[in-house]
Amino acid sequence: MHLKDKVALVTGAAQGIGRAFAQALLEKGCKVALVDQNVEVGKASKDALDKQFDVQRTIFIPCDVSNEEQLKDAFKKVVQHFGKLDILVNNAGVNNEKNWEVTVQINLISMIRGTYIGLDYMKTENGGSGGVIVNISSLAGLVPVAHQPVYCASKHGVVGFTRSIAMASKIGNYGVRINTICPGFVNTPILQSIDKEENMGQYSAYKEEIKDMIKFYGILDPPLVAEGLIKILEDDALNGEVMKITTSQGIHFHEYTPLPFQSTKQ
Ligand SMILES: NC(=O)c1ccc[n+]([C@@H]2O[C@H](COP(=O)([O-])OP(=O)(O)OC[C@H]3O[C@@H](n4cnc5c(N)ncnc54)[C@H](O)[C@@H]3O)[C@@H](O)[C@H]2O)c1
Repeated sequence: MHLKDKVALVTGAAQGIGRAFAQALLEKGCKVALVDQNVEVGKASKDALDKQFDVQRTIFIPCDVSNEEQLKDAFKKVVQHFGKLDILVNNAGVNNEKNWEVTVQINLISMIRGTYIGLDYMKTENGGSGGVIVNISSLAGLVPVAHQPVYCASKHGVVGFTRSIAMASKIGNYGVRINTICPGFVNTPILQSIDKEENMGQYSAYKEEIKDMIKFYGILDPPLVAEGLIKILEDDALNGEVMKITTSQGIHFHEYTPLPFQSTKQ
């Protein structure tokens, strides 16, 4: 996909990885809707981006992605404002092992809902002109993590859903490529949640062990994850892929053995 003048909706774009995605997309000439529940930080990010890019190229939309009506409304606003939707990045996520249902709701259920709403707008059979969806998982979507079992389950869900819906898209000729990114630890505010009892609950006692793990694996910077996103968006051959980003190997892809059953339409 050529990115110039494409319209992107990024959830969780107020800060962290989502904010780096918005920056990279704008640098490529996209128009970007920053969708986030954090109004203060979201507005501040839009203001900062307005100092670098034409103010018309971004819009901030306050939205709790776990609220179905607000999420649907956010998509509607993007299409009303920019006239179309070409790229969707389901990035909003939390780490909460105490109120673990919230983690499943935001990281998994809202990502699934976002993908379906995005497909409604982009699918060629609905009159859309196709597009690309990228769902943000984590390395915790591929390996077990002792002290974040629910976060880990939610991110495994992102990988399973994305690979499956990507196959459905190909078989059904939706005209939409769907991929996922699994980064290692990234230097963003979410890492502060490890120190908080209200986030870690019964696993709070193990926070030093998690910190040792972070030291062992190292920490990525958000712009590298954004580089991975741009690579997925620009390479039209990629669908159903699981991109891993690590300090040791940089941007690379997870390899799976081919499935024994192949649809004749694949
Ligand atoms: N930072 C890491 O180490 C790391 C590693 C792998 C994957 N990830 C994933 O990357 C994504 C981005 O995380 P981050 O590190 O930038 O975290 P972050 O906490 O810095 O940013 C997350 C953003 O999502 C927003 N958000 C949270 N819940 C929301 C909701 N219900 N509705 C709307 N917005 C909501 C927050 O307001 C925030 O702006 C998440 O899905 C996270 O799980 C992060």
